[in-house]
Amino acid sequence: MNYIDLDHKTILITGAAGFIGSNLVIELLRTVPSVSIIGIDNMNDYYDVSIKAWRLEQIEALGGSWTFVRGNIADKELIVNLFEKYKPEIVVNLAAQAGVRYSITNPDVYIESNLIGFYNILEACRHYPVEHLVYASSSSVYGVNKKVPYSTEDKVDNPVSLYAATKKSNELMAHAYSKLYNIPSTGLRFFTVYGPAGRPDMAYFSFTNKLRAGETIKIFNYGNCLRDFTYIDDIVEGVKRVIQGAPDKKTGEDGLPIPPYAVYNIGNSKPENLLDFVQILSEELVKAEVLPDDYNFENHKELVAMQPGDVTVTYADTSELESTFEFKPNTDLRTGLRRFAEWYKVFYKV
Ligand SMILES: NC(=O)c1ccc[n+]([C@@H]2O[C@H](COP(=O)([O-])OP(=O)(O)OC[C@H]3O[C@@H](n4cnc5c(N)ncnc54)[C@H](O)[C@@H]3O)[C@@H](O)[C@H]2O)c1
Repeated sequence: MNYIDLDHKTILITGAAGFIGSNLVIELLRTVPSVSIIGIDNMNDYYDVSIKAWRLEQIEALGGSWTFVRGNIADKELIVNLFEKYKPEIVVNLAAQAGVRYSITNPDVYIESNLIGFYNILEACRHYPVEHLVYASSSSVYGVNKKVPYSTEDKVDNPVSLYAATKKSNELMAHAYSKLYNIPSTGLRFFTVYGPAGRPDMAYFSFTNKLRAGETIKIFNYGNCLRDFTYIDDIVEGVKRVIQGAPDKKTGEDGLPIPPYAVYNIGNSKPENLLDFVQILSEELVKAEVLPDDYNFENHKELVAMQPGDVTVTYADTSELESTFEFKPNTDLRTGLRRFAEWYKVFYKV
């Protein structure tokens, strides 16, 4: 592994107003004062844009060398100009259209952001060489694999959603670019990331919104699902460590590069049953006074069948991350949901 010192580095982070992106920017500006960060985000309205704006305010309040560009990574000219102007040494590609279910009704935007956008990033890294390209993949690449925990050694050729197919494609495209142009690249398969100012399309957040509005929440597969929930701070710590360790450049016997390419899982490695998750969320929402003591949860829960594109289990084998970066996510679900509930109360002035 090639160790990269972050001091005085210019880092381009795409999807910087997003949940993971904004938290990564904050962590880097706080802990590496000499770093320069260029953030790009198109601020799309897939979910409440005021949350993206709030995250950017948190970043701006820190000061530090921070430049924000509002734009689309699928705009090739814009991306080329950004690389030409800032010459980032490290690129973290987090911009993407996320969400499994939305990819069934809105496929176009997945092709635009996740394939064309990522291709533009790869091309730019080819013409303006970087020390390390780190990009978001997803646990969804494991599809309905039966063997758990999911290991990066497992076969992942059977995606069950277009979203998953775009993420697996990103890994394939990165591999080809690593091999052809010797670009050190690392893909990170994130497992259900949650926390304060997270994504309103995800269950913990949308359930909270629905329960507050007095609506009924739908629990898929009659609750027989296991999810490996990973707290945002653990993800950020993992990404920060991974950024600093690029796969080595080596030459093969044929005189051509052996691709400096790696993929890791980042997950809690402790899958939780959906019904237990709803129970803990309910307790923490009451504790944070987002919902009243006497809220009748039973009247607002409906157990329903599985949804197309969904998977029943996600469970990360993180042994490679642990052995390479000496790090394992460890925030328990109750602690993480408590922080979410406390943030929610303040943000929505409950
Ligand atoms: N949160 C999770 O549980 C999870 C799990 C697996 C993988 N991921 C991946 O991690 C990355 C970050 O996820 P997140 O949860 O922070 O999602 P997010 O939606 O909060 O962040 C993505 C950001 O990218 C921006 N964006 C989307 N398309 C863009 C484009 N074409 N050009 C510029 N900006 C664009 C969005 O406006 C958004 O702010 C994504 O690639 C996502 O697929 C997330």
